[in-house]
Amino acid sequence: MADSTTGSPARRALITGITGQDGSYLAEFLLDRGYEVVGMVRRSSTVNYERIAHLMGRIEFHSGDLLDQFSIVEALQEHTPDEVYNLAAQSFVQTSFGQPVLTGETTALGVTRMLDAVRLVDPSIRFYQASSSEMFGKVHEVPQTESTPFHPRSPYGVAKVYGHWITVNYRESYGLHACSGMLFNHESPRRGLEFVTRKISHGVAQIALGQASELRLGNLDAKRDWGFAGDYVDAMWRMLQQDEPEDFVICTGQTHSVQEFCQAAFARVGLDWEKHVVVDQKYYRPAEVDLLVGDGSQAADRLGWRPTIDFVQLVEMMVDADVALLEGRLRNLS
Ligand code: NAP
Ligand code: GDD
Repeated sequence: MADSTTGSPARRALITGITGQDGSYLAEFLLDRGYEVVGMVRRSSTVNYERIAHLMGRIEFHSGDLLDQFSIVEALQEHTPDEVYNLAAQSFVQTSFGQPVLTGETTALGVTRMLDAVRLVDPSIRFYQASSSEMFGKVHEVPQTESTPFHPRSPYGVAKVYGHWITVNYRESYGLHACSGMLFNHESPRRGLEFVTRKISHGVAQIALGQASELRLGNLDAKRDWGFAGDYVDAMWRMLQQDEPEDFVICTGQTHSVQEFCQAAFARVGLDWEKHVVVDQKYYRPAEVDLLVGDGSQAADRLGWRPTIDFVQLVEMMVDADVALLEGRLRNLS
């Protein structure tokens, strides 16, 4: 189909992980720019399209899995994308300690399967890899930049380091336009309920509405550089529009503790966090990432990218959305 504004054929993007938080925002972002969007989805026993329900009819789907090479090759052959965004992963750090092999197969080797498919089917495809600030782990410098050494602290972090370097390697070995976004934590009302920000915003909403009285959390001292997912997908796209592929740190440059997040979230509904939060050892990790804060100056200079939502706006957006959801004012997360 042609783009009605330019007359040239619409660009086509394939997104893996389209049912996830980032996949849903990226699909929206690309559709708004006139792209044809294909989402790779894996088979499950129930439909899990909640985050993209509002985009149904505008996205094509391809059944595939990062664990299955042939399904990836077939997705590229059938849909001939110009850009591939590899967002699929086993993305929860805590789960990676319990399922390290699955995490490695998906989050590490899955990237090689994607890159090999690109190399074999059409090496002119532009490829984005969802790398992570978890790669910095036990940080060697503050703030973290594109050249900060990696020291991952979980099987997830280790898998992401592999995914990052195999992307660099395929770029250097085969000349692919492949790049890697080292994204710091980004959140939204569509964040999975197990991640700490959404666990807090949802827990706060339940307590505010009298549906719960306490919120059990782990390490309150951990600090993260939290931004808004809707901003971060714009950075992914900008990376693929560069003439030369390059890797970027994407962050806000501000860091806050889990405790500060609690404080702000409970304050939004007029409650005192200390009366409701209970620390539970069950949520501590075998090895922790204590402090993440990025330096996003390279992305600002070369991509013209800057975050638009600050910490307090993010917390309030998430709490308000969860209160609305539980009150039945929001039907879904889209
Ligand atoms: P998410 O909400 O957990 O979504 C993960 C997606 O991957 C889901 O669509 C999931 O499908 C899919 N997936 C999992 N295993 C798969 C497999 N074997 N084959 C095909 N698809 C599979 O994650 P997110 O927050 O959107 O993050 C997107 C990417 O960015 C991930 O790679 C994550 O590691 C990375 N990242 C995230 C952040 C962040 O703060 N959000 C920061 C840095 C990097 P189902 O719906 O079927 O489970
Ligand atoms: N999930 C969770 N649940 N985390 C808790 C809890 C709790 O009850 N209590 C404290 N925390 C602390 C964790 O120990 C961690 O230090 C911090 O909150 C953030 O945890 P998560 O929200 O689970 O995110 P993450 O930082 O481990 O990983 C996320 O960000 C990475 C980028 O740095 C994920 O989105 C990864 O996929 C992503 O790569």
